[in-house]
Amino acid sequence: GLKIVTIGGGSSYTPELVEGFIKRYHELPVKELWLVDIEAGREKLEIVGAMAQRMVKAAGIDCEIHLTLDRQKALKGADFVTTQLRVGHMDARIKDETIPNKYGLIGQETNGAGGMLKAFRTIPVILEIVEDMKVLCPNAWLINFTNPAGMVTEAVLRYGMWEKVIGLCNVPIVAVKNESAVLEENEDTLFFKFAGINHLHWHKIYGHNGQDLTRQAIDKLYGPDAKSERIVENIKNMRFLHEQLVQLDMLPCPYHRYYYMTDAMLQEELEEAKGEGTRGQVVKRLEESLFELYKDPNLDHKPEELEKRGGAYYSDAACEIINSIYNNKGTQMVVSTRNNGAINDLPVESAIEITSVITSHGAEPIHFGSFPPAQRGLLQLMKSMEELTIEAAVTGNYATALQAFTSNPLVQSGDSAKALLDELLEAHKQYLPQF
Ligand code: G6P
Ligand code: MN
Repeated sequence: GLKIVTIGGGSSYTPELVEGFIKRYHELPVKELWLVDIEAGREKLEIVGAMAQRMVKAAGIDCEIHLTLDRQKALKGADFVTTQLRVGHMDARIKDETIPNKYGLIGQETNGAGGMLKAFRTIPVILEIVEDMKVLCPNAWLINFTNPAGMVTEAVLRYGMWEKVIGLCNVPIVAVKNESAVLEENEDTLFFKFAGINHLHWHKIYGHNGQDLTRQAIDKLYGPDAKSERIVENIKNMRFLHEQLVQLDMLPCPYHRYYYMTDAMLQEELEEAKGEGTRGQVVKRLEESLFELYKDPNLDHKPEELEKRGGAYYSDAACEIINSIYNNKGTQMVVSTRNNGAINDLPVESAIEITSVITSHGAEPIHFGSFPPAQRGLLQLMKSMEELTIEAAVTGNYATALQAFTSNPLVQSGDSAKALLDELLEAHKQYLPQF
């Protein structure tokens, strides 16, 4: 039977994943699910792990759930390894949000200075996991959910020298569901063509006769009579400028708001920070109440409250990709994978996020070609920023980190970039041994 290992198994998202495996058990017989965490996450692991055990029992499937703090023991002989860990837990995220805010800058877990620090903390840990995999489960696939998912995927490819990796995000799934509904079409009759990088991609929509429906979706979502759209829970639903999207002739992802409407998003963030708190602070409280629910020995299914997290459909993405690889399905999914020439504007070795065909040999990107100038400029700038960030994460080189900060459009340059970098490195030093 299949052995799956989930690192960061004590996450409040684990019931999502377990639900996804239960739903697919008839074609994806997961016999062992190993939930791995670290000492600091032991209590959460025990609570959510017991909940996972109740879920499989209630579903009547033959799947053993193992809980462990011993990662190497878990990895031995794994078929798939999923990563959903958060180095430094929610408190580290809150620092990534609040410290840039003090400098009048966007504070966000995957964008701007906060996103770069998250990469610095996370990439070395993921590369250690890859080293363990080389020894303990050399044929396994690594399915990464840990943010910043695109940079993590690229680090695994370029520095981990590990090819069997796929990065995942729920943003494209949410867009497909929402925009199909807005167009009043069944999502299976539409073709969504996504390209870009994680949390910074654009897409076009085609109908069943091949007609381009992108402009229609832009008008319905952002035109003068637009109704509010549904996006991921963690991003403020600020309306994009209609004219700008008409010029793009593609739909942006929700995170583009940080780049296309920076001032408004910053104002929003600062107000929220003063009120209910930053997103990390809100999520920390939400997690506490989720774990209270998970403690209930009678709860044996995923509670609705979990939908308040930004990761809606997370399990569908994770379990479906494993299913597609295991059963060689040829399903189309949007994933982070190596460019290999699919996007002409980016280096061939880059990780990109793109509509791909998933088979037993992994993700095969559907060729996209070249972007128009508006998309190309931002995309290339952000990819070079990512390359610098990944290099700094691996080497701990201060000058490279400063260059990454300076080239990020959401960070200032010069002394103010340096002051912010210094403050963040100090705040997170416990998790940054490489610097
Ligand atoms: C979106 C993103 C994820 C991110 C999540 C944050 O779904 O795609 O990459 O982790 O939001 O949600 P949270 O509830 O933690 O703010
Ligand atoms: Mn994501």
